[in-house]
Amino acid sequence: MRIDKFLSDMGLYSRRESAELVKKRRIKIDGVCAAKASEHFDPEKSELTVDGQAVAYKSYFYLMLNKPEGYVSATDDGNLPTVLELVDESYKRAGVFPCGRLDRNTTGLMLLTNDGKLSHRLLSPKHHVDKKYYFSCKFPLSCEDKAALEAGVEIEGGYRTLPCRVELLGENEGFITLTEGKYHQIKLMAKAVHNQIRSLKRVSFGPLELDEALKPGEYRSLSQEEEALLKAHGES
Ligand code: URA
Repeated sequence: MRIDKFLSDMGLYSRRESAELVKKRRIKIDGVCAAKASEHFDPEKSELTVDGQAVAYKSYFYLMLNKPEGYVSATDDGNLPTVLELVDESYKRAGVFPCGRLDRNTTGLMLLTNDGKLSHRLLSPKHHVDKKYYFSCKFPLSCEDKAALEAGVEIEGGYRTLPCRVELLGENEGFITLTEGKYHQIKLMAKAVHNQIRSLKRVSFGPLELDEALKPGEYRSLSQEEEALLKAHGES
């Protein structure tokens, strides 16, 4: 693989930046200074260092984004900004995409990855991955509404939602945990009990909890532990 492609795929440097690093003799392959950014090497057999630091070979990236309002969870949209605009170019080049969908005005935890297989497993209806949201709604939710939502309600299109969990924090707010993800599901569920969602924020996705240190629009790589938990979740 070319040195510049490797460094860009690892989410570290653009091709132009790699060329600069080579020029400044900061990149070595097995201890020997690279001559050109287009030079080929085998990342499985050889060690590439930048300023003496080995770069681990990683082909998959897992990012936790705190999605802000106003962004669509798509890779491309004619008019509206997409969540991909919030991440570094190098991740886009490595092919990361949003794992699942959040509405434009929904905020919170969004996983971005280029691991298509894991994403597919986590989103498959067979897997029933828990997705927990904080919500606030226009009208007070009664105990009957809570029970109806938890048992499953008929939403537009005649679909009956699967049982879910609702924890009320006050009359007009709480947490709702779904194991499925139909389009606009929570908004439609609220409508089914004659209510209206005012705000929605996803606080967890499977074993991942939103890192509250991330401000809206910020993201970080998953820790090794989070990555392992997520993969184990996708396999179970
Ligand atoms: N349900 C919704 O209505 N919107 C979301 O973004 C997620 C779940």
